[in-house]
This record gives sequence, C-alpha cells and structure tokens, in this order.
Amino acid sequence: MAAGGRAPAPWVLLCLGALLAPWVSAGGPCQVEVNISSTGTLPNGTLYAAKGSQVDFSCSSSSWPPPIVEWWFQAPDSRTEPFGNNWTASSFKLFLMSQNLQGNYTCLAKNMLSGRHRNVTTELLVYSPPPSVPQCWAEMSPGTFMLQLTCRWDKGYPDPNFLWTEEPGGVVVGKSQLGVERLNQSQLSDGKKFKCVGSHIVGPESGTSCMVQIRSPSILSEPMKTCFVGGNVTFTCQVSGAYPPAKILWLRNLTQPEVVIQPSSHYVITHNGQSSTLTIRNCSQGLDEGYYVCRAENPVGLREVDIWLSVKEPVNIGGIVGTIVSLLLLGLAIISGLILYYSPMFCWKVGRTFRRQDMGDVMVLVDSEEEEVEEEKDVAEEEEEEANERVELPKEVQKHSHIHRVTALVNGNIEQMGNGLQALQDDSGEQQSDTVQDDDRPV
Ligand SMILES: *[C@@H]1O[C@H](CO)[C@@H](O)[C@H](O)[C@H]1NC(C)=O
Ligand SMILES: *[C@@H]1O[C@H](CO)[C@@H](O)[C@H](O)[C@H]1NC(C)=O
Ligand SMILES: *[C@@H]1O[C@H](CO)[C@@H](O)[C@H](O)[C@H]1NC(C)=O
Ligand SMILES: *[C@@H]1O[C@H](CO)[C@@H](O)[C@H](O)[C@H]1NC(C)=O
Ligand SMILES: *[C@@H]1O[C@H](CO)[C@@H](O)[C@H](O)[C@H]1NC(C)=O
Ligand SMILES: *[C@@H]1O[C@H](CO)[C@@H](O)[C@H](O)[C@H]1NC(C)=O
Ligand SMILES: *[C@@H]1O[C@H](CO)[C@@H](O)[C@H](O)[C@H]1NC(C)=O
Repeated sequence: MAAGGRAPAPWVLLCLGALLAPWVSAGGPCQVEVNISSTGTLPNGTLYAAKGSQVDFSCSSSSWPPPIVEWWFQAPDSRTEPFGNNWTASSFKLFLMSQNLQGNYTCLAKNMLSGRHRNVTTELLVYSPPPSVPQCWAEMSPGTFMLQLTCRWDKGYPDPNFLWTEEPGGVVVGKSQLGVERLNQSQLSDGKKFKCVGSHIVGPESGTSCMVQIRSPSILSEPMKTCFVGGNVTFTCQVSGAYPPAKILWLRNLTQPEVVIQPSSHYVITHNGQSSTLTIRNCSQGLDEGYYVCRAENPVGLREVDIWLSVKEPVNIGGIVGTIVSLLLLGLAIISGLILYYSPMFCWKVGRTFRRQDMGDVMVLVDSEEEEVEEEKDVAEEEEEEANERVELPKEVQKHSHIHRVTALVNGNIEQMGNGLQALQDDSGEQQSDTVQDDDRPV
C-alpha cells in the first residue's frame, strides 16, 4: 500500500526544489514510499500476512537534506516502539510472522534541517489457519426432534467458514461461520452422508473437510422374561448402529397409545451409553405380567421391540424336598416289597449262614433243610417214592458224599425257583439220578 501522496501543491513544488536544486534551503520530505510484501489485501484495504511467513518492509523518501527514515511499530494496546532507522531509505524483513507482530507499522521521514516530517501508517494483520482438521458430528437438536449438524475447526484467526453439503451430489445444506445446520426429518434417510468443508483465508485452497453418516437405530433384546411373584426382573435393551445416538425409552402397552414408564420405587431405569435396563421390583402377577416395549429413536428412525414378561408363583422349596423324600420312601418300599416277594430264601440263606458257622459242616446243614421239606412231604409221598426219585434222591446223596451234597443244594434251589427253570432242573436232575442210582441205591 502506497500512501502519503496527498501533499498540497506547495509541498510538491518544494519537493521538486529539493530534488533539483540542492542550493535551495531545506525542502521535503514530500513522498513516502512504503512497500510491504508479500501480503494479501482485505476488501477494506487492510493488509494481512500468514502466520509463519516472511514479510519484507521497505520505506523511502526524499528531501533536502536527505531525510531520516524510521520504522515504528505499534501492537494493539501497547506503546509505539522504533524498529530501526536509516538515511533515505529503510527496509527490514520479518521472517516468521507471529500474532504479536500484528499491528500498525508506521514509516516516518524526517527532514532534520527543517524539522518537517511525514509518516505513513499501515495496518498489518497476521492471520493463521486452524492447526488441525475440522471435526464434525450430528446430534439431536435439543428441544426439537431435528438433526443438528455441527462442524468445528478451532484456533484459527480469523474464524473459518463452513459449507455443509449432502453427499454424494453436493446439494448445499448451508453455509455459515458457525458451522451449525439443522435439518428436519423430511431431509433425512438411513445411511445418508453430509460433508462439511472448512475454508480459511490463509488455509488450504480447497479447504479441508469431514463427513458424517446418519443411521437409524437397531435393537438387541430378549423376547421374553420370567419373574417370580415378589421377585425382581431386569430387561436389557442394547441399541446399536444409531447415529446420532438414539434416545431409549421403556413403555408399557397396556393401553394405546403406549405409556412411557417413569422411574419409581417399582421401576428402576438405568442408561449406560446406548444400553438401557429396566428393573421391575416386587413383581406382581396382575400388575406386571404382559408386554413391555423398548423404543430407540433418533431423527433418522425409530425401532421398537416387545418383551413379554410372565410372572410366576415362587417355587416352594419345602414342597419340592417333601415330594422328593416321599418318592424316595415309596421307591424304597417298593424295592423291599419286591425283594421279599421274589426271594424269601434270601432270608433262609442268611439263616443258614449263621447255622453253618455253628456246625462247620454244610452237609448237615443241607440235610436239615431237606428234612424239613421232607417232613412235609413224607406222609403223602411215601408210596410214590419211585416216581419222585429225583426229588428225594438228593436227600439220600447228601448223606454220603461231598459231590452229592452240592448237587442237592443246587436242586433244592431250583425247585423253589418256579416253573421257568424246571427244564434245567430236569436235565441236571437226570444226570444226577443216574450217578446216584449207580452208587447209592443199595442204601
Ligand atoms: C478491515 O477488515 C478487517 C477484517 O474484517 C478488520 O479486522 C479491520 O479492522 C478492517 N480495517 C479497517 C480499516 O476497517
Ligand atoms: C541504510 O539504507 C541503505 C540503503 O538502503 C543500506 O545500504 C544501509 O545498509 C542501511 N543501513 C542501516 C543501518 O540499515
Ligand atoms: C491501527 O491504528 C488504528 C488507528 O489508530 C486503530 O484503529 C487500529 O486498531 C490499529 N490496528 C492495530 C492492529 O493495532
Ligand atoms: C422441513 O424442511 C423443509 C425444507 O427445509 C420445509 O419445507 C418443511 O416445512 C420442513 N418441515 C418441518 C416439519 O419443519
Ligand atoms: C429386589 O431388588 C431390591 C433392590 O435392589 C432388593 O432390595 C431386593 O432384595 C431384591 N429382591 C429380590 C427377591 O431379589
Ligand atoms: C401390546 O403389544 C403386543 C405385541 O405387539 C400386542 O399383541 C398387544 O395387542 C399390545 N397390547 C395393546 C393393548 O395394544
Ligand atoms: C410387594 O407388592 C405387594 C403387592 O403387589 C405389596 O403388598 C408388598 O407390600 C410389596 N412389597 C414390597 C417390599 O414393596
């Protein structure tokens, strides 16, 4: 920016005089030439330089005698300080522009002889783009049920501009310095993307951008639950995929429209991110059984799941134990009955065992048993002795040899086992009788 050319006509003449006629007494300074580069110019004429860039300042003027040219700097709200001086011309460079170098730069040309001076003041702003990339997000606009898109790109000077567009397609949603746009539901659909482009006067030419994709919620939950009367039950509702995050509500659909469940001593509701639980305390059958609804909603969509709660009478532990004990006792009784019914000889064997210990001779023992049997039969069967040989033979055998004794025992048992084993008894008995007859008949 060149300035200082507004000298009145008499000064111009004096300047000319100063340049052309050194013998003329003191003249000037008239023109002060200021050049500041490389900078940009705002619409209102103010210069700006990017933070970190190099800026060259130069200033020159002429007068007779040659003037002293000085640079002064004034930061906002501080005193003016000299930046150096020189004869005729003054120039300097600032290599790394920073915020504290923003201010008014004044070039002063002074004719030492006449004491006249002229100055030119140039305002230089030091602009900086935000150091990071833009951040953008979507949220439910408080109060309304609209979608709010927000784009942030902080720590830049001056503030950047934001352009929100729909992607793909690039339909403009809004352009602002705030970066916030609101959309109503008719403009939203699941999976739609929105792009925010941040642009800054000294930032990247094409700006930098970020993108959001909006999604309706999905719900994961159990379809049914059971609660015992007087007990507690907890439903869990896990929402996923929702962007912006969904609002989760629990409802009871006893009536239409459904009623939102409010937290109370009976209903405990806890939210943890996109997960919510409803605990029902002190379940009662009439009040609590039925459908519950978990509803997840964001501006993009709404999902609901029904959960069925069945309330049952608490299980009576005493009753269960009683039943089990009764069943055990019944089983024991049946088994005992069966044993007694089918195996009375178990008792006899036991009895015999004791007796054997006493007598030390099995033969005698068996004998006595057979005799008992025999006594019963004796009278009736005396005449049929021939026919009943097999039955009676063992009795005789027992008295004479070890082998026979064992046989008799076997036969005796089989005899009492019933008809099913009769054949077996017959066979063995047959062989037995042969042997017996050969050996023992004479007795
Ligand atoms: C020119 O505009 C900039 C940015 O809007 C402002 O900071 C500055 O003060 C303005 N300068 C003048 C002289 O109006
Ligand atoms: C004064 O300006 C002249 C001409 O631009 C330059 O050669 C000289 O080095 C400068 N001196 C100082 C002290 O800046
Ligand atoms: C420069 O000077 C003008 C006029 O005195 C003042 O309004 C402006 O704020 C100054 N600019 C800076 C950056 O100090
Ligand atoms: C939704 O936005 C469209 C376009 O901006 C507008 O025409 C419509 O009235 C809005 N609807 C509601 C319910 O705000
Ligand atoms: C139900 O929850 C309450 C509060 O957490 C607790 O005091 C109570 O013991 C629970 N009842 C049962 C049956 O677990
Ligand atoms: C509650 O929801 C269930 C499952 O969707 C449905 O069968 C039942 O009719 C609803 N009850 C009322 C009163 O709407
Ligand atoms: C549980 O509910 C029953 C009736 O629904 C009520 O009489 C009882 O006082 C309740 N118990 C507690 C601990 O709230």
